[in-house]
Amino acid sequence: MYVCLCQGVREAEVADAVASGADDMDGLVEALGVCTGCGCCRELVEALLDKPRPAGRRRAMDAFNRITIASAS
Ligand code: FES
Repeated sequence: MYVCLCQGVREAEVADAVASGADDMDGLVEALGVCTGCGCCRELVEALLDKPRPAGRRRAMDAFNRITIASAS
């Protein structure tokens, strides 16, 4: 399903971007360009950000964050 028609962004792309760390509106705007056209998708994007993530993705993201933090220090 398309989330942002102006930028041609689908729900799966938003989910992937969130799983990769773009887990707020600013991150999604930067990563995908959502809400940078007409702005009609803002409410839907916000709803997707509030959507609970599957446990597998949460675990993968937690592991990614641990690795990233360990690598940075
Ligand atoms: S539908 Fe996303 S900016 Fe227009």
